[in-house]
Amino acid sequence: MELVLKILKENRGQFVSGESLARLSGITRAGIWKQINRLRRNGYLIESSPRKGYRLLTSTPGLYPLELKDGLDTKVFGQIVYEDTEVDSTNNWARSLANRGALEGTLVIAESQTAGRGRMGRQWASASGQGLWFSLVLRPRISAPVLGGLTLLAAVIMAQTIQSVTGIQPQIKWPNDLIHNGRKLGGILAEMSGEMDLVNYLILGIGINVNHRPEDFPPELRGRAVSLQMIQPGNLSRKTLLQEFLRRFETAYYALPETGIAEAVRYAKLHSATVGKPVRINRGFGKVLEGEALDLETDGSLIVKETNGRIVRVFSGDSE
Ligand code: BTN
Repeated sequence: MELVLKILKENRGQFVSGESLARLSGITRAGIWKQINRLRRNGYLIESSPRKGYRLLTSTPGLYPLELKDGLDTKVFGQIVYEDTEVDSTNNWARSLANRGALEGTLVIAESQTAGRGRMGRQWASASGQGLWFSLVLRPRISAPVLGGLTLLAAVIMAQTIQSVTGIQPQIKWPNDLIHNGRKLGGILAEMSGEMDLVNYLILGIGINVNHRPEDFPPELRGRAVSLQMIQPGNLSRKTLLQEFLRRFETAYYALPETGIAEAVRYAKLHSATVGKPVRINRGFGKVLEGEALDLETDGSLIVKETNGRIVRVFSGDSE
């Protein structure tokens, strides 16, 4: 499959005969026909002429693996890609792959999710083809308490990616939400397998609302959610966003032992929707903490001054 597409891409705009395709790829003519049809089903526009052969007119707007790898400037992240049009949750898929030994940097991506999950057991609306729904398998050699810092780093890198690709500056709402003018643009769900001092793997699931129109969100989310396209009209390339995120995140992730995350924390504070503001933190199981967010720590925890004056450090929860 990949080879046929590669040949068509190398000859973009020109016809390649079925015979040449078969010879160059080592696949039978019947096999070529099947692959062309599969590419078409995946959104590639391919013209065919009985005499001249096949000609690639446009690539798919989908996140087809070969498409994603074309121009991807990484060594590890996204070099192995699993993609499907519909899955329950990319985090579930990535987790089952990781349990079977998937390597660090394995990327799982879907056009839509039937059971996309958010933090605290919430559902994550995953409209088909409009968002970026993906999960990355990581095998960090760090202890579990440092993981909060790693998800904070991912949120910062995603905010920086969005800023550099679109010019839109997202804010970071503790712990890892990306928001714009108070509306949710994206979120991160990190799930770990391991023990306190030994991480087996970490699944970093990221969802970004990219090309949604307001009516693409379920009614209960309208007014609370926003997409990049709603902020800045025009269709945005999910591929560019994802490639740029993977490139930046790979560099930051492998530099982490030397650089630490002080710089990321500084950025998160500068663009924080939480620090310095009154907060109401839902800690799960009906527990709510109210006060003022004072600071952000390097492990991703939040320092809060409760209304009764007590200063506490909060490791997990959800701020309103
Ligand atoms: C949150 O804000 O609560 C986190 C949302 C995370 C959503 C992403 S979409 C890709 C990945 N797969 C999931 O089921 N969830 C994450």
